[in-house]
Amino acid sequence: GAPVEADISKLEAGQIMTVEWRGKPVWLVRRTKAMLDALPTLDGQLRDPKSTVVEQQPAYAKNEFRSIKPELLVLVGICTHLGCSPTFRPDIAPADLGPGWKGGFFCPCHGSRFDLAGRVFQGVPAPLNLEVPPYKFLSDTRLIVG
Ligand code: FES
Repeated sequence: GAPVEADISKLEAGQIMTVEWRGKPVWLVRRTKAMLDALPTLDGQLRDPKSTVVEQQPAYAKNEFRSIKPELLVLVGICTHLGCSPTFRPDIAPADLGPGWKGGFFCPCHGSRFDLAGRVFQGVPAPLNLEVPPYKFLSDTRLIVG
């Protein structure tokens, strides 16, 4: 599949947008400082907090934010369990997601939960963190996925 270009100039802090790449949804999320600050506090609840599975992200996204620029998250929006598309749940502590939820992605099919770096929580069916696709920035507001 061909690479796809995304214009993030209108993407505001806390928002998500989706582009299609190789027939898959790719999410772009502009994370707030509060979202980034929450990530390290979740490590003890996650299956693979350090993103050790090499297939799940390019080497340049193997860091605590799973991204090139901390504020911009780029993820393939497909659950690593059986391929449903999780929903974006940036809200803090909604009753249905349990105490301590600090925002992330929730898969409605079998209840897998991921944080705002796409890292999977323990105790859910999804085995792996969400995939970070290859991408690069063309400028501050444009990037190429693929
Ligand atoms: Fe997402 Fe099963 S497909 S939890």
